[in-house]
Amino acid sequence: MLNLKPPVEEKPQVSPAGPCVLVIFGATGDLTKRLLVPALYNLRRAGLLPKNFAVIGVSRAPKDNAAFRSDLGSSLRQFDDAVSDADWKSLAERMFYLQGEFDDPATYDKLKQLLTKTDEAQQTGGNCLFYLATPPQVFSPIVQRLGETGLVREEEGRWRRVIIEKPFGADLRSAQELNCKLLGTLAESQIYRIDHYLGKETVQNIMVFRFGNGIFEPLWNRDHIDHVQITVAETVDVGRRGKFYDVTGALRDMVPNHLFQLLTLTAMEPPTCFGAHAVRAEKAKVLEAIHAFGSQDARRNVVRAQYGAGIVDGKKIDSYRSAQDVARDSATETYVALKLEIDSWRWAGVPFYLRTGKSLAVRRSEIAIHFKQAPFALFKDTPVAQLTPNDMILQIQPEEGVILHFSAKIPGPSVRMGGVEMKFNYNDYFKATPNTGYETLIYDCMKGDPTLFQRADNIEDGWRVVQPVLDVWAEEHATELPIYPAGSPGPAEADALLARDGRRWRALQGKDRGNSS
Ligand code: BG6
Repeated sequence: MLNLKPPVEEKPQVSPAGPCVLVIFGATGDLTKRLLVPALYNLRRAGLLPKNFAVIGVSRAPKDNAAFRSDLGSSLRQFDDAVSDADWKSLAERMFYLQGEFDDPATYDKLKQLLTKTDEAQQTGGNCLFYLATPPQVFSPIVQRLGETGLVREEEGRWRRVIIEKPFGADLRSAQELNCKLLGTLAESQIYRIDHYLGKETVQNIMVFRFGNGIFEPLWNRDHIDHVQITVAETVDVGRRGKFYDVTGALRDMVPNHLFQLLTLTAMEPPTCFGAHAVRAEKAKVLEAIHAFGSQDARRNVVRAQYGAGIVDGKKIDSYRSAQDVARDSATETYVALKLEIDSWRWAGVPFYLRTGKSLAVRRSEIAIHFKQAPFALFKDTPVAQLTPNDMILQIQPEEGVILHFSAKIPGPSVRMGGVEMKFNYNDYFKATPNTGYETLIYDCMKGDPTLFQRADNIEDGWRVVQPVLDVWAEEHATELPIYPAGSPGPAEADALLARDGRRWRALQGKDRGNSS
């Protein structure tokens, strides 16, 4: 795992990755433009790219090296207005383009020749990282062809690795099938399944925060924690992704992957070290301990809804059903909320409430740890009506920090109490360098550190938890879902999910200290 950025005055402890070629399938796509190339550029600027390095982009579009480089240069400048010409030039001149269809064996023969040539010219030691920035239907065919052409064979000390993008399967069965196909060609140690949430500094910080401080861990259990709320609220609507989203929905798109990353890092036991095996094993145990939904729980503990027309950030948003490439009678959920229970010694009886949705009032990802209330008895003869709940918010994005809410005495002769907050902000302590979140992931893969990637069983365990919900929904054939107006905090049904337990969600808008039971 790439070390967390040090406080400003310290020098980074990390060294450049070793020689290699990065082959990107889907090199003219959005992901390459928006995230991969900016990440490579940031790594280059931070001195972390290998000295002996090259990029080969593979895609269908006819283009030559010059057009490939200049297109990527222009889009890089759209996302970063401080691009240094010299830094970009030194990266761009090591970028090459290969036109080809992903299912055509000739593409792989040409790739083999180009790789050999590039390897010799750039002295990359035969090491190669294949990045599948493609639609999921071609993950397995590409890997199969790479295998047939001998391109993923590791021999004479050279390594060959493959990064697989999301979505990894659309349910448990398809994820198992994909794992099975990939593992027919590759060893598990060669497969790097990405979840870009693990590239976020604030997500990586959850472990450091929990295990690098002696004061929190003793409180991190059912004796002291009432419940946990995990929120990934987005203001973006479905935009131009209707085709993908309408068959995917919020549950598949966000829960078994991104939300479960937040969940497992919050709930896991301390690993024995920060190594891949130890960390991934502890995360796996959390998923395995999630109380499996029976069909009744899947109905009772999961809420889904769809956004209707409304206003987000002052802009009028049409209903989900009127979005491009979305069926006019679509019953795909754009919001989902779940109540999960973890059957472990640490967490028995502590509900974890998760929610995520599009076109909501604000963009906010956070983990809210709601601690148990202090006994009120002491205050019963005072003007204090109720105690301020103690909660700790791990802010993931866009705010990045930690907040602790507690009660303090309001100055004056009588005992009166007010809720106050203590706040840590990343930006106040650490100099943030431009970061897409993919820098760490690409760098780690070049270094051969899979800690921040998903093991086959992690992926399947995530799907296993949500599969009963998918099954129940498939049986229900709902034609209408509850509607929440775009720009609202979500559907009333999600509020009812918590109200039933005497709790309520932290407000998405305005100041709210939450209201634990
Ligand atoms: C993607 C989902 O994986 O994550 C998108 O497909 C979602 O629907 C995105 O918007 C959220 O990522 P981030 O980094 O913006 O929170």
